Amino acid sequence: MDKKETIRGFSRMSREEKIQHVIEHVGLSEDLKQDLDRYLHPSEQTLFNNISENTVSNYYLPYSLAPNFLINDTMYIIPMVIEESSVVAAASKAASFWAKNGGFKTRIINVEKNGQIFFSWAGTVDDLKPYSKELEILINKVTESATANMRSRGGGITSFEIKSIDNMPNTHQLLVKFKTGDSMGANFINTCLEIISPELIHFINSKDELKRHGNAKSIMSILSNYTPNCLVECQVSCPIEQLKPYAGEFSTQEFAQRFKQAVDIAINDPYRATTHNKGIFNGIDAVVLATGNDFRAIEAGAQAYASHNGQYSSLTKLELSATEFTYTLEVPLALGTVGGLTNVHPMVKASLEILNQPSAEQLMQITAAAGLANNFGAVAALVTTGIQKGHMKLHLSNILTSMNTTDEEREKANEYFKNETVSYSGVENFLKSLRN
Ligand code: MEV
Repeated sequence: MDKKETIRGFSRMSREEKIQHVIEHVGLSEDLKQDLDRYLHPSEQTLFNNISENTVSNYYLPYSLAPNFLINDTMYIIPMVIEESSVVAAASKAASFWAKNGGFKTRIINVEKNGQIFFSWAGTVDDLKPYSKELEILINKVTESATANMRSRGGGITSFEIKSIDNMPNTHQLLVKFKTGDSMGANFINTCLEIISPELIHFINSKDELKRHGNAKSIMSILSNYTPNCLVECQVSCPIEQLKPYAGEFSTQEFAQRFKQAVDIAINDPYRATTHNKGIFNGIDAVVLATGNDFRAIEAGAQAYASHNGQYSSLTKLELSATEFTYTLEVPLALGTVGGLTNVHPMVKASLEILNQPSAEQLMQITAAAGLANNFGAVAALVTTGIQKGHMKLHLSNILTSMNTTDEEREKANEYFKNETVSYSGVENFLKSLRN
């Protein structure tokens, strides 16, 4: 088969035809079919097929639980879906530590989301200013029925502003702010924007004072994943002397100072900030996935927020007094606990049950706590023993799996590597000697 040839009608092929096509196109053995078959779900496959398109199998990730998260005096067991060993262990260890030291204190700063209607027009924002009230009445009127349900749940359109786009003459946006209750609200926001957009254009083009600048034309309308106004703060705090379990060979004062240096480096150096924040997202993404939220949206929004002061920076900050260690994460998390996958995916339903059916605001706080726990564990390890010691121990299991070890070999390897540094070649040599 010519590999450059376009595949036509792939979506209309049966599952078997699709797989056969891939086997022939890539030149694979028929074993591919067995691998893909093995991970089909015995009873829920239709449901999974309908979540995406061209589905031929399922992609499994471990579903784990991190216990002992005391958040605002409520104890949670947090479901986490992640492929990286040590994340759940680090989260659980930090959660237990902080549960003994007052727990995570979280606070919602705001829960607004944003939508943007872009349009071109030769007038200016100042030309539109006198029409603000009239526009507000229009926006509320045309979205009345679309927002009725959301308004009855305390949400809806909260405000709007017109801004010009920097460096682009004659290009503007209507930035609309929304509250969406317990739903992430993407469909709601996009529906409202698509209702407002033609009305806005018609409004401008029908006013003599405005149309003398020429006709306005719509460009596009879409929600923004940048949600600096959907923000949660999560904080842990304890007397420095309590940090002993994490201080390793250092005094607790030295440990706290080293931790402060590490956080300040992440505040000031974007290379380090990226890795530091990645440690936060180890926790956040795992909860976002387990609860069926859109992890790309969360990542995009929170990573953008990490640059809100003009340079990419740490999402956490540490305050040290002579006696007190106070560590704070501030992160935008536009999460939902109704709608989307929450009513569809059985494991998402399980996650929300385990979390005792949280509101969106509660889920923001739980997710932030998982992020802070993971980052705290990572930074604590980095400034004491280094990351590899604990990491590679847990990674041992993955290496052993990749080397097709028997249960007996695994047991012996676990025993042997209790006192040895784990490395891929070390495990390989150990197994070789065992097998000889
Ligand atoms: C690894 O998944 C995460 C870390 O790199 C985070 C960090 O460096 O702070 C350990």
